Amino acid sequence: MREEKAATTVRPRTPQGRATAVAHPNIALIKYWGKRDERLFLPWTDSLSMTLDIFPTTTSVRLDAEAEQDEVTLNGAPATGEARRRVVAFLDLVRERAGLSRRAVVDTENTVPTGAGLASSASGFAALAVAAATAYGLDLDATGLSRLARRGSGSASRSVHGDFVVWHAGRTTGTDEDADLGSYAEPVPSAGLDPTLVIAVVDAGPKTVSSRAAMRSTVDTSPLYRPWAASSTADLAEMRTALRRGDLEAVGEIAERNALGMHATMLAARPAVRYLSAATLTVLDSVLQLRREGVSAYATMDAGPNVKVLCHRTDADQVAAAVCAAAPGTAVHVARPGPGARLLNEDG
Ligand code: DP6
Repeated sequence: MREEKAATTVRPRTPQGRATAVAHPNIALIKYWGKRDERLFLPWTDSLSMTLDIFPTTTSVRLDAEAEQDEVTLNGAPATGEARRRVVAFLDLVRERAGLSRRAVVDTENTVPTGAGLASSASGFAALAVAAATAYGLDLDATGLSRLARRGSGSASRSVHGDFVVWHAGRTTGTDEDADLGSYAEPVPSAGLDPTLVIAVVDAGPKTVSSRAAMRSTVDTSPLYRPWAASSTADLAEMRTALRRGDLEAVGEIAERNALGMHATMLAARPAVRYLSAATLTVLDSVLQLRREGVSAYATMDAGPNVKVLCHRTDADQVAAAVCAAAPGTAVHVARPGPGARLLNEDG
């Protein structure tokens, strides 16, 4: 218990009793895939992402002295099953750190269209971390909030910050306290980039395997996992240099190979996990064709068949049109670098 408090650099503060926060999703250019500690959400590798300017999640937390259990509402309906369990487990962690037992009323509004293929867990837990920390009186700086958000969903640690963000895996040795302290996200410098992500939704259906289960089975069974993790470390170092130089072509090439490598680790898992569909490959072909025509366009895919295409802002319309022409029925969303998580005041 004592260690737990030290690990989070909590400075007790007066609980506000209620707070509302907003956070945006992020897309990884260097992927997080695989945990070395599932309880603490510690990854095997560093990852790097771009926070988006679309699809915010807004979450309010209000402490309720009378309530016997947490009340969790998601897009206007009571949360059930795994979604509710994850939020309550997260609130338990906040309560333990705050030394308070009061239950909460949590209200979350996601603006990601259902099935857009963008996980709402990153924006969701980043917003919940900021709102719950304030409501329960944990005085955390951005690094502390990132560590806290990580305990809800690994990728949420990155949505605490805006623009380009690196999440440090931290040390693999030492105490739990050391490990917790070492694993947080922070902004990464980038110069002169004017990037856009064209999000191509080829399939809006729910995913068949959760990313949590898929990454576990990949780490446990894929002979390609360790080689990918090693190459991902090298990719991250190159990515930092490319961002510093403002070299979109290098950023895109590194992101694309890192994502394809991650999917290769899954294809080699036993049994194989395959998120990429025929439509995904059609979009990847159109991205290759764009490059042949001299357009800088690079693809990345997460735990689903949808494709996010990185390009210069000035090429976004052309990229969106090419993707839609190649894979009719594809819905596209255009995203740019967005802000980090923040508290909203009473009038929003
Ligand atoms: C493929 O953060 O959703 O999007 O930590 O188990 O909640 P948990 O997983 P999550 O995994 C994201 C995986 C990914 C790659 C990435 O965002 O880096």
